[in-house]
This record gives sequence, C-alpha cells and structure tokens, in this order.
Amino acid sequence: MKAVVIGSMNMDYTMVVDHLPARGETVTAVRLRTSAGGKGLNQAVALARLGVEVVMVGAVGDDASGKALLGNLPKDHIPDFAIKKVDDSTGNAFITVDSQGHNTIVVYPGANYKLDMGWVESFKGEIASADFVVMQMEIPLDTVVSSIELAHSLGTTVVLNPAPALPLPPEIYPMIDLIVPNETELTLLTGQNDVLEGARKLLEMGAKAVVVTLGSSGCLYEDTSQEILVEGFKVNAVDSTAAGDAFIGGLLSALGRREDIRTAMTFANAVGAITVTRPGAQESIPTYEEVKDFLRRRGA
Ligand code: RIB
Repeated sequence: MKAVVIGSMNMDYTMVVDHLPARGETVTAVRLRTSAGGKGLNQAVALARLGVEVVMVGAVGDDASGKALLGNLPKDHIPDFAIKKVDDSTGNAFITVDSQGHNTIVVYPGANYKLDMGWVESFKGEIASADFVVMQMEIPLDTVVSSIELAHSLGTTVVLNPAPALPLPPEIYPMIDLIVPNETELTLLTGQNDVLEGARKLLEMGAKAVVVTLGSSGCLYEDTSQEILVEGFKVNAVDSTAAGDAFIGGLLSALGRREDIRTAMTFANAVGAITVTRPGAQESIPTYEEVKDFLRRRGA
C-alpha cells in the first residue's frame, strides 16, 4: 500500500503552560520543546509507522530546521527525493499546550508556501501509482486545488484534511473521495454548527465520504448510504498536538488494509488516543504494534 502526502513540514516550538493566555495576558511557560511537525509531515510519519509506503511531497528551507527535518526522515523510512529545498526559512509552528493537553497553534508557513504545482507535477508517476493522495491546507491553496485535480484525473483516491480550513472552490468537492475535517473546520466549510447537518452538507457539495473528528468523543462517518458514530477511548491527555494527523494516518492505513469502515474508525481513534497521552507532534505518534497492543488491552 502506497500513499503520497502533499503538504507542510514545520519545526514546532512548543511552550508548556498552566493555562492558555487570554487576550492581552502574559503567561510564563514551564517548558520549551522543539520538535518536528507540520500537518503534512505528521500524517506522513503516522502512515509510515502504521505500515504504509510513503512519498512526502513538500518543501523546506536551506537552514538548520530544514536539515533537522530531513535528517529525521530515514528513521521512518520516508524518502526525501520529493522534498524541495527553497530559498526561504523552513516552516515554523508556535504552539502552547495547557495542563489539560489543549493547544493553540500559530504557523509561519515559510518554505511551505513555495510548494508549487510545477514541483508536484514532477511526481505525477508517484501519484499515479499510489493508492491514495493525502493533502492538508498549510501549503498554497492553488497547489492543493491543482493537486486534487491531478490526482483525480489519474484515478488515485483523493483524501483532504481541510486544516486550517479555507473556503474551497465548489467544483473541487466532487473530486474528493474522503474529506476529514474537525468540528471547527466542518462549520467553516459548511456554515453548519450541527455535525450531522455539516457532514450531510459536504456530501451534497459533492464529497464522496466524510469523517468528522470529534476529539475525545470519537468520530462520525457519513456517505450517501450510511452514517456511523464510533466513540473515542478515554485516556489522560497531556498534549493534543498532531492527534488529528495521527488519526488520519490510522484511518487510511486501516482502510488500505481493507478493514471495514467501523474497524478503521476504531483503529484511528486508538491512534489519536495514544498520541494525546504523549508530548510533542511526531514523537507522540505510535507504531502499528503499539496500537494493536492498546486495542488488545482495551478489549476492542
Ligand atoms: O497538526 C499539528 C501540526 O500543526 C503541528 O505539528 C504544527 O506544525 C502545525 O502544522
């Protein structure tokens, strides 16, 4: 099973705080951590740890952060041939995490915004031979839209995690096989506050299937013939960073193994749950064996 991830690569600067600052408030962090992140790279790492062959299409700057991100790839068996080196700083994310594991994230895109369609098109062969292409929205919107069109024209399954959410051209929805928003993104894309209404609206807009992530409450699947809610696992959360990315890796790896949708949702919930029990982005994402062990212990 092979996936092409077209997306962002960031260096994350995480400050651990007692509570998230309110507007105008200064808070003192108890810890500062630097780690590899970016929604695209996190999803690539999750897929790789869960047994999927991954090609990462992305961009980094010619700086220490870029070198560090590239240097991490071999341990997850992710090749770097489709990662562009550009004259800009590598993307940065500034994250605050509170004592309940909730976070806020501000991203400076840097090199990620130089990921252009010319570069993506040079990996057309990889896209054509992949089982699915996964995208998020921390790269230029034009590149996301054109990549969806390209993957769709090549007959490769298109998966979009619309994060951070931006309005998409209406004609693009029918080319999306699976869209995976969280509740905030769902509301922004559909104008609906109700999760079921929002998921149905995405189907009306043309997406073939929808999975809405509901944090610790689990996830909802919706297509034109079925609606499935799978509850999440209760865990002690320390840091929710990359939980959504890990969930997507879990879901797609399970669907790639031809598991039915309910089993795949349970597996993805487990991946997300394990991720929130550990600090950081990529270092918190579990392996396949860790997920199977978690599910066994939970009797799932
Ligand atoms: O989804 C989590 C990620 O969002 C972080 O790793 C950060 O880099 C931002 O892109």
